[in-house]
Amino acid sequence: MSVVTLVDVFKHRITQKYLRRSGIHHAVTVAQHAFKLAVAAGISPDLAAKSALLHDIGHYEWYKDGKWDYEEYRKHDIHAIKGAERAHKLLIRLGEDRLAAKEVSLAVLLHTDSYLPFSLTTLRTPLQKVVEEADRMDEQPHGLHHYNNMSPSEAVRLLHQLDMKISDYYENNPKV
Ligand SMILES: [Fe+2]
Repeated sequence: MSVVTLVDVFKHRITQKYLRRSGIHHAVTVAQHAFKLAVAAGISPDLAAKSALLHDIGHYEWYKDGKWDYEEYRKHDIHAIKGAERAHKLLIRLGEDRLAAKEVSLAVLLHTDSYLPFSLTTLRTPLQKVVEEADRMDEQPHGLHHYNNMSPSEAVRLLHQLDMKISDYYENNPKV
């Protein structure tokens, strides 16, 4: 398993700069869901939790006249593309294995097909499916899941717990 932890990822300058836009609460909650789904599916909980934590890091601010304009956002959104690049860059800077960084980047790129002219439903790998499902589990109408609050210190506490669960998992399942 990787030496780069979820807490390392969260504390990185790039994460701190961009993750607040889509909400720390949503990112941490989706990482928790992804961990459980990955364990159930027998795939890497480390890659699933990292991909989930970073899945919305490509969001830009979608306010117009001080209000969120959902229609404008839907029309112009490419957050999965921007997020895939940001996630890759920050993982490489943290010293993540390059194949792992690519897997995470692809899972971020393909966690939604809302920006694509075709459906990805039957095309996703098990890791990509886990991240898409974990995201849907925390979804609320009109993007309200991006507005639940969580302090950075609470995020670090919960991510540290998740890091411990991931390392326990690899101790018991060294082949995953
Ligand atoms: Fe999301």
